[in-house]
Amino acid sequence: MKREVIYADNNATTCVAPEVFEAMRPYLFEKYGNPSSIYTFGGELAADIERARIEVAELLGASWRNNLGQATEIIFTSCGTESDNAALRSALEVQSGRRKIVTSKVEHPAILNLCRELEREGYTVETIGVDGDGRLDMSALERAVDSETALVTLMWANNEIGNIYPVEEVARIAHRAGALFHTDAVQAAGKVPMNMSESEIDMLSISGHKLHAPKGVGVLYVRRGVRFRPFIIGGHQEKGRRGGTENVASIIGLGKACELARKGMAEEIAHVKKLRDRLETGIAERIPAIRINGDKSSRLPNTSSISFEYIEGEAILLLLDQHGICASSGSACTTGSLEPSHVLRAMGLPYTAAHGTLRFSFSRYNTVEEVDRIIEVLPSVISTLRKMSPYWKE
Ligand SMILES: Cc1ncc(COP(=O)(O)O)c(C=O)c1O
Repeated sequence: MKREVIYADNNATTCVAPEVFEAMRPYLFEKYGNPSSIYTFGGELAADIERARIEVAELLGASWRNNLGQATEIIFTSCGTESDNAALRSALEVQSGRRKIVTSKVEHPAILNLCRELEREGYTVETIGVDGDGRLDMSALERAVDSETALVTLMWANNEIGNIYPVEEVARIAHRAGALFHTDAVQAAGKVPMNMSESEIDMLSISGHKLHAPKGVGVLYVRRGVRFRPFIIGGHQEKGRRGGTENVASIIGLGKACELARKGMAEEIAHVKKLRDRLETGIAERIPAIRINGDKSSRLPNTSSISFEYIEGEAILLLLDQHGICASSGSACTTGSLEPSHVLRAMGLPYTAAHGTLRFSFSRYNTVEEVDRIIEVLPSVISTLRKMSPYWKE
């Protein structure tokens, strides 16, 4: 029997939208040619890829087109992680006189672990801290960005606590010092309106599977005029900026997902915000000793990070799983380790709270009934675990 699942972990990944699947279907069965082929069966796919590229550009508000009407600021990649790697490596290569990267302590491992590797390779990395609500220390950032800095990279929105960061302001700080600016917008795309035509951002990463396209496709936006060196070197695909036969079906799917995200954004933001706020209010009314994390004035509308003091997040997840409820403790990438996530540690959360932190993240497909079910189940789960906790006192 198929178990009913309440999927409240949409920052980890999302389901493919039915419209996206339908758009992809012909490219798996009938239109399976290679876009680089001379004959029409393959070659005509190149035009379909260009249409998907335009859809991605429209979601990002990137209106520049080349003389063929193509949105060449968009480069298709295999995932957000590849886009991040390509951006950082390129910035260091095109600014070879500068050997420093400035970033934040709350980035995704796609950036933080890459930065550690770059340090091993001899580059300097400065990671800027955050306050107790996860807000970036802007004066420390201003001090860190200097004439040695090749690139400043700051996530647009945090995957764990949902904070939205002041990327435009930081881009201006980077540019004043002659550095490039990249943003990991994997969690922001589709959830925050974007207007790259009016922006100072040089490079931006997104990932298909966070916005109802399939896993295994991503984008790196590179502003026209910003020098770029390819990370994956091979064939002439993506105008020589990313070798490898195109993942045609997924690219088409991502184009469709971007179109849906753009057209439905206002409605979706209102919907997930309503669910998120209902969840937080319901939990705060029924469960004592909780803490809602993040910057309440600048947060993704779909994300809620809640600490339940004196118990383990993993234990809560296991009990919720018995009710078919999927959420996350820390980020998907840190699940499996018992250390609290680097984001919560950077915020200085006490261990008793950091350990018991859950993230709920909603999508357009979640319902009020699902949220009410979570609110119904959670109090007894928390009280069962607290009764077993040596630290909990009623
Ligand atoms: C902020 C952020 N950056 C990068 C990634 C990595 O994206 P991908 O899974 O497409 O490599 C994620 C995925 O969780 C993320 O949340």
